[in-house]
Amino acid sequence: MSGFDLVVVSNRGPFTLASGPGGVVEVRPAAGGMAPSLRGALAEEPVRSGNGALWVAAALTEADRLHASAGAVATGQESLKLRTVDVTPEVGRAAYDVIANGTLWFLHHGLFDHARRPRFDRVWREAWEEYRQFNEAFADTIAEEASTGATVVVNDYHLALVGRFLIKRRPDLATAFFSHTPFCPPEDLAMLPDGARLELMESMSCFGACGFHVVRWRDAFVRCAAAVGLAPPATFVAPLGADPARLDEVAASEACRSRLLRLEDELDGRTLLLRSDRVELSKNLIRGFLAFDELLEASPQWRGRVVFLARVYASRESLPEYLAYRAETEHVVALVNERWGSPGYTPVILDLEDDFAATVAALRRYELLLVNPIRDGLNLVAMEGPVVNERDGVLVLSREAGAYDELAEVSVGVNPFDVTGTAAAMASGLSMSIEQRRARAAELRRRARSRTPAQWLSEVRHSAQVPGDRDLQA
Ligand code: F6P
Repeated sequence: MSGFDLVVVSNRGPFTLASGPGGVVEVRPAAGGMAPSLRGALAEEPVRSGNGALWVAAALTEADRLHASAGAVATGQESLKLRTVDVTPEVGRAAYDVIANGTLWFLHHGLFDHARRPRFDRVWREAWEEYRQFNEAFADTIAEEASTGATVVVNDYHLALVGRFLIKRRPDLATAFFSHTPFCPPEDLAMLPDGARLELMESMSCFGACGFHVVRWRDAFVRCAAAVGLAPPATFVAPLGADPARLDEVAASEACRSRLLRLEDELDGRTLLLRSDRVELSKNLIRGFLAFDELLEASPQWRGRVVFLARVYASRESLPEYLAYRAETEHVVALVNERWGSPGYTPVILDLEDDFAATVAALRRYELLLVNPIRDGLNLVAMEGPVVNERDGVLVLSREAGAYDELAEVSVGVNPFDVTGTAAAMASGLSMSIEQRRARAAELRRRARSRTPAQWLSEVRHSAQVPGDRDLQA
């Protein structure tokens, strides 16, 4: 059987397609998130034989959809092709909005507002059926494209049911599922309706192996499997790293240099406290701004002398919770600015422009980087910042981020729910002696540069296995 020896699968791909003049397919790199980091890794990954690697992703644009049935397209990266999977807009919306992001994301990040959500009603059950169809369509595409005995790496909760469909179609494939998110504890999993809970855990057990960024998410998964009476598949832990080569390239670019000059102008010599995130409930933006408010209240010496720049970009705005969160975030920022601002001084700059060169410029410049998620699979920003930072900046890091497991001794740890504690952590980071900062930053940099996406991919690839027989109940 011909086909691809390595198939990487995710909902959002590393490229999107656009229809150029005369029907020519243009391939455009996606901006942020996990996929662009892996894109670099695939360029480095030596491909054993055959056609090389294929990335399978959901059709998100009109052109993606148009080309979904036409097979793989070249991405301009020699060893990587892209194949999009098309489903009806209703199925796509139900899978992405209602189940993946509206349910599983909230479940794994502990974000449900229990008095109101979740509600597993008839509409939700229809959406679960569509989520199942979405996963089946991916399994069909993978089964068509993978060579005999190929390795398949499926990423994230959007595609947790793929394993079950794939094992029936192609039992010869070595498969791994990788969760870039946390995994919920069994007490939270118990919220799902019984059938869905069992189906989710059984389907994940149909992969040859399941991988996580850190031990605690892996352990939670194993406990969840036990809670539904399943023997878990093989599991492994493989934290992803920042991509130093890509970051160095952007940091050295003219675009980044000009953004940095603009930023220096805006800062006018002030200290920079930075965050860089999606506008996302799990990232805990609001408590970060409230902590900054407390910092300025408790430490008058910082008023007028520190700017909190939030380089954040809009995300998942088809979900009402995200729209409401953005509005609340903007409101809190306005209050802080009203309280502490003065002519020529805006304490918080909320910058929603999606411009990676500007983000890298800010990462080069910060004195303090705040990464305070409520819960996070890893958090790449905590790694990317130290890779390019030029000011021996301090990292204030949530204990609930997977990255904390590796960076605890070289960051200032915070409980993300504790606003006053976060303010105190910011104050201590800002007033740290230069010697202390230098020593920590050197070690942070070393750790952040020591892992690359290519190593991650190689670990995941080697952890993938042909799944054994599974006795499926759901
Ligand atoms: O963190 C989980 C994740 O799926 C990442 O792998 C990805 O970069 C991010 O969420 C982006 O989410 P979305 O595709 O909804 O913008």
